[in-house]
Amino acid sequence: MRFGHFDDERREYVIDRPDTPLPWINYLGTEAYFGIISNTAGGYSFYRDARLRRLSRYRYNNAPFDFGGRYLYLRDHAQDGAYWSPTWQPTQTELDEYECRHGLSYTQISSAYRNIKAQVSYFVPLGETLEVWRLRLTNERSPDQADSVAELSVFSSVEFCLWDAQDDATNFQRNFSTGQVEVVDGVIYHKTEYRERRDHFAYFACSEPLAGFDTARESFLGPYRSWDRPIAVERGASSDSIAHGWQPHGSHHVRVTLEPGETREIGFVLGYWENPRDAKFDPPGSQTINKHMVRPVIARWLQQETVDAGFRALREQWDALLGGLQVATPDGDTDRMVNIWNAYQNMVTFNMSRSTSFYESGIGRGMGFRDSNQDLLGFVHMIPERARERILDIAATQLSTGGAYHQYQPLTKRGNNDIGSGFNDDPLWLILGVAAYLKETGDTSILEEPVPYDNDPGSEQPLYDHLQRSLRYTLERLGPHGLPLIGRADWNDCLNLNCFSETPGEPFQTTENATGGVAESVFIAGQFVLAARELAGIAALVGRPGQEYLDAAEKMAGTIAEHGWDGAWFRRAYDFHGNVVGSASNDEGQIFIEPQGMCIMGGVGVEDGTAATALASVRERLATPHGIVLQQPAYSSYRVELGEISSYPPGYKENAGIFCHTNPWLMIAEAIVGNGDGAFDYYKRILPAAREAISEVHRCEPYVYAQMIAGRDAPTHGEAKNSWLTGTAAWNYAAVTQWILGIRPELTGLRVAPVIPADWPGFTAVRRFRGATYNITVQRGAERSLTVDGEARDPDSVLPLAPAGAISEVILTIS
Ligand code: GLC
Ligand code: GLC
Repeated sequence: MRFGHFDDERREYVIDRPDTPLPWINYLGTEAYFGIISNTAGGYSFYRDARLRRLSRYRYNNAPFDFGGRYLYLRDHAQDGAYWSPTWQPTQTELDEYECRHGLSYTQISSAYRNIKAQVSYFVPLGETLEVWRLRLTNERSPDQADSVAELSVFSSVEFCLWDAQDDATNFQRNFSTGQVEVVDGVIYHKTEYRERRDHFAYFACSEPLAGFDTARESFLGPYRSWDRPIAVERGASSDSIAHGWQPHGSHHVRVTLEPGETREIGFVLGYWENPRDAKFDPPGSQTINKHMVRPVIARWLQQETVDAGFRALREQWDALLGGLQVATPDGDTDRMVNIWNAYQNMVTFNMSRSTSFYESGIGRGMGFRDSNQDLLGFVHMIPERARERILDIAATQLSTGGAYHQYQPLTKRGNNDIGSGFNDDPLWLILGVAAYLKETGDTSILEEPVPYDNDPGSEQPLYDHLQRSLRYTLERLGPHGLPLIGRADWNDCLNLNCFSETPGEPFQTTENATGGVAESVFIAGQFVLAARELAGIAALVGRPGQEYLDAAEKMAGTIAEHGWDGAWFRRAYDFHGNVVGSASNDEGQIFIEPQGMCIMGGVGVEDGTAATALASVRERLATPHGIVLQQPAYSSYRVELGEISSYPPGYKENAGIFCHTNPWLMIAEAIVGNGDGAFDYYKRILPAAREAISEVHRCEPYVYAQMIAGRDAPTHGEAKNSWLTGTAAWNYAAVTQWILGIRPELTGLRVAPVIPADWPGFTAVRRFRGATYNITVQRGAERSLTVDGEARDPDSVLPLAPAGAISEVILTIS
């Protein structure tokens, strides 16, 4: 069952009913000011850091699930005083028409009720720290109808958050006394804590003269009432309340008269502003916000022409960003995901890491070291300069041991001490992230950038040194089989082989109740082989010695063959006591997906056929119609020696859920062994667009990947959770574009090496690469051949680099 459809032309997903199985959300903002918005206008906004600079309040895990947001109310004065929300929530009035269009960094919700058409558009203009809501009202009543002239009231509503979202949700004894606002010329200023150490405030402005306003939540809603029936709206009049403590709130009241057929637009601007500390107050010495600098910004964005131009600029930016790669394949779902939605999700995951969605509360996690490195894979071709900056930020949190803070805070860019380090896969992801950057850009100057360790001034070393230490970190931490020690965990955060927790509430990732163990990871071993080979390639590119990396990779591959191969698949690990995990000899958890993907991506077993054997085992034991589960059989009970993985009921999350992040590794592995049908088959199983028709089962948005789909052991097999912020986005993008379509940036240039389904006649693509444009045609023919600008080339070579600005015609014929 569908709840909407794709509008590929406009690059929008169109939702045609408000009661989607879960809120289907979108993101506003791409630079510094961000928001999340649901298909019924729920959600919140923040500046840079969703925890520390949150503008509007949001209550997670509410009932209904999504409640609180950028709400508007319309009230009909001429008729009976009835009121409704043009975005359905929060009044849930049964609207005559409803449509939500989620576009790239904007959302538009339209509805009709009582022949009043309302369209609300939300977006964040480029270069600004504010969001625009534009309401367009049309009176569609026929002139001969009674009350054909619409006498309407419009009320806006935003509940302010007192900035630190964690504190805001817990520290009531203080916060009920700190709230402060100012209202000047119809602009509501939220200035809690501005009197002391904050130099920033929020504002909420409206383009029209006000009939009234409210800034105290209780005055707007009325005691014992909620957003579904605010007293101000019911009464048709605000009370011009000024908040003193309690809950600062922003609500404008505007009166509108519309003749039949008339349309009016009303603009609202919600924004963030920071003043210089020495010019905070006006007059100096007072407690009044200095508004000299912010006022022109507000005035500008309340003008319709500015808004129109801002919206056009946003759309143009997305045209440019998506122009890096556009494909036309025989599969419509592939096209819309590659050309639009997957690329878009890559930008969002790059910006948000795992911090802010409807499943990540914005207060929990910072930027993940491993996550952010992987996110680069899908983002680097869009804005390489930002990828470069991100790499240097991440590397600066690396420790001098070569180890890494698991997370860092986006606002301070400092490593997070709460979670610390010791996830032994982390450092190797830095090599893979840098390799992705170099392959895309060829910018080897990044390797010479001086980067500190642990942000410690004076400790700067060239980035290349960081990469070397990453490899060394693994080599200095090998276990009894010669495999890498796992530490707190590897990619699988929930395989905690050194934790041994018996106490409820203990964090699995950071608790170590036993020392002296020898837990080793076959996954890290595979990742090491991959990373060492990448570093050797980088070394060759810049004329440094790299043989030792190749030797180390070779040796590790041998160790995997000896101690990591189980007979029909790669083993997962050895536990604290040296017992094997992920082996036919285990009663549960016999085969895991991660080492199959990672070892084969590292090239292990490709020559001797063990890779093909492992892939056959995956297909036989792990693949389901909804994707590939993480392991089998699922753990049926808690196992203290394995940790969090066995804390989940079977079929969910890391305990045999379809952890989508891992699936593209298997697509890539299938492509590496030349099985295009197999790779594409796995691709389609989890492709959101291809699951649109089963939205009642999948439940999450059909336009973006979710972290997890419930596995076959779960009673809700096929149900997705945790949409948006997942490494699934970047990896699937890499799998389909670089391996299935085979348009692959390499250190020496662009390669076209497709491994497509047997029944595809071919495809075309336009790829921007290092300043030039490549028009690529892949077609079938009797013999394999490659021509570039009419000249025959070795079909297995990288394309000759075209000069910046040039257009190169590439025709690859495959048999
Ligand atoms: C989450 C984490 C990621 C981890 C994965 C598997 O997606 O963000 O870092 O690799 O779970 O546990
Ligand atoms: C939990 C989640 C896991 C995630 C981790 C991050 O363990 O189950 O998916 O990676 O938290 O800390």
